[in-house]
Amino acid sequence: MRMVLLGAPGSGKGTQGEKLVAHYGIPKISTGDALRAAVAAGTELGRKAKATMDAGQLVADDIVIGIVEERLAQDDARKGFILDGFPRNTAQAQVLDAMLQRLGQPAVDKAVHLAVADEEIIKRLLDRAQKEGRADDKEDVIRRRIDIYNAETHPLLDYYRAQNKVVTVDGVGELDTVFDRIVKALG
Ligand code: AP5
Ligand code: MG
Repeated sequence: MRMVLLGAPGSGKGTQGEKLVAHYGIPKISTGDALRAAVAAGTELGRKAKATMDAGQLVADDIVIGIVEERLAQDDARKGFILDGFPRNTAQAQVLDAMLQRLGQPAVDKAVHLAVADEEIIKRLLDRAQKEGRADDKEDVIRRRIDIYNAETHPLLDYYRAQNKVVTVDGVGELDTVFDRIVKALG
């Protein structure tokens, strides 16, 4: 199973992605997690990306493409993977398709779209801000992340629809309920 998790910030990509890792026994590749780890470690990449992330904007394509390519080339990703937060625009989606070909891997099977309304997203992320203090979980930044999602990432639904790969799942409800919906939709 090679899947892409598509959904607005706070729609549950990370949360459901972890459950899918356990269920399918394949790794999750999260560009957001990788970037936050780089920021925390103070690497050059982290220093470059921090201000952009804190502002809720997308970091440069070549940076995230490099992260994904390095991870996809590892052995454990050969039998499948769950991409969380990548691709985020059409250019990244096209690069991903080419990358899989170059690595001799089959194409993406499914794009799972987690549908959650904006007001629920804002509520979740403001709640997480209290618990975890993620630098981009501030209301104005959350709204910018949603706007960028709508402008840049949401069009990927059409990209994957054209390939008959989209499954849309209601992302509101108990974690296990949402997870069951995803697994059922994946068949
Ligand atoms: P990224 O880390 O990808 O963040 P995001 O898309 O904004 O999404 P989140 O991680 O906030 O939400 P999520 O969908 O994972 O939901 P979660 O499960 O955490 O990106 C961060 C930044 O990195 C970007 O802004 C950009 O700068 C950069 N970046 C990353 N990838 C990039 C790329 N490809 N190109 C360019 N730049 C890139 O859940 C959210 C909260 O809700 C949690 O507290 C959770 O406990 C709770 N929750 C989850 N499910 C439920 C539920 N069913 N009911 C109630 N609460 C729930
Ligand atoms: Mg996440």
